[in-house]
Amino acid sequence: MMNRRRFLGIGGGCIVIAGVTSYALSDRRNLVRNDLRPDPIPRLLLKKDERTILYLASLAPSGHNTQPWFIKRLQPYHWIVCNDQTKWLTAVDPTQRETMLSIGAFLQNLEYAANNLGYACQFELKAKTNRDEEVMEVRLVNADLQAKYDTDHIKQRRTMRSGILPVELKQEDVNDLINKDIDFVHFIPPKTAAYRHLNEQTLEANKVQSYRDAAQKELANWIRFSSKDAEKYRDGLTPGSMEIEGFTGWVVRNFYGKPNVMKNGFRDQNIEQVEKQVATSGGWFVITSKNQSVTSLLETGQRMQRLFLKVRKKGIAIHPMTQILEEPSIHQGLNSAIGINEPVQFILRTGYLKNYPGAVSLRRPVDWLIRS
Ligand SMILES: Cc1cc2nc3c(=O)[nH]c(=O)nc-3n(C[C@H](O)[C@H](O)[C@H](O)COP(=O)(O)O)c2cc1C
Repeated sequence: MMNRRRFLGIGGGCIVIAGVTSYALSDRRNLVRNDLRPDPIPRLLLKKDERTILYLASLAPSGHNTQPWFIKRLQPYHWIVCNDQTKWLTAVDPTQRETMLSIGAFLQNLEYAANNLGYACQFELKAKTNRDEEVMEVRLVNADLQAKYDTDHIKQRRTMRSGILPVELKQEDVNDLINKDIDFVHFIPPKTAAYRHLNEQTLEANKVQSYRDAAQKELANWIRFSSKDAEKYRDGLTPGSMEIEGFTGWVVRNFYGKPNVMKNGFRDQNIEQVEKQVATSGGWFVITSKNQSVTSLLETGQRMQRLFLKVRKKGIAIHPMTQILEEPSIHQGLNSAIGINEPVQFILRTGYLKNYPGAVSLRRPVDWLIRS
């Protein structure tokens, strides 16, 4: 009896110790932006302001956080912002429409960041198509600027996918946010037919896309489940940026990989998640463009980013939900159903948030952006 109890005691202790040890050695917390320095060991002799401006520019949003940009540095303060074809999402964005929108957002951040440090930007468009490598030549020139842009807005901006409250945006907030962009930014309030269409068809489009293997495989390639991968690539979707916390976060960091994304369980979970998300919001913003030209797409990316940078101080979230635009069978009915004639470039779920956590998505170091 005594022996047995002692044996069990020791055995139990061993199991507990083994459990604690392997937990201690496991991937215990989400790697987030604050864990990484913008430039771990700067190699390149960039001017300090160049480094600051390019880092802030890189905080722009992009689909799957691919960060589809790089910089050719002709001289100090004289760059060409380029389109990185190795980052294209060919399954969901075969015409590089979203790539150009993301580069537009990058250019908006770049301009605000340059203004903050006392530079004006001279832009010269180089690209004729969405596939041209050289997109925009930029020269920064010293300027006597009156109002400096507050770059905290750039640092704190983030996509929020959960916790959006089912409370309609107040008219005064909508007016403030849309301001002079009334021809391009459309607010779709709850309880309208257009709102219901966007909710239902976002869910439909997600069902189609989740079971489209090419799209799902592409998504798998951009998820960085483990902190090790996240730190290595510093891009893509991390458990932190997907707002997966707690025990679930621990499980996916330690045990998930690309094959899990292709399983039906994973696809169905995404569909369920989307169903919950669209069920609660304060409306949608839809952003249109004049046409599909390179100029129009870049301008639309800039416009979206100006809006995105304004929402946090009002406690308002933005969640881009792009699947309707990515699935042709669903996209074709969009304009007539929501009563908008111009090409739709962004569909953004919006609403108030109770908690607005800090930005967590990762970015590559500035050194990695520079190519000669
Ligand atoms: C063109 C474009 C399309 C996007 N589409 C989606 C989407 O369909 N669903 C989603 O959850 N996030 C979408 N996003 C948000 C990105 O995933 C997000 O910007 C990126 O992961 C970086 O995170 P951050 O915005 O918090 O910095 C999109 C962003 C852009 C610029």
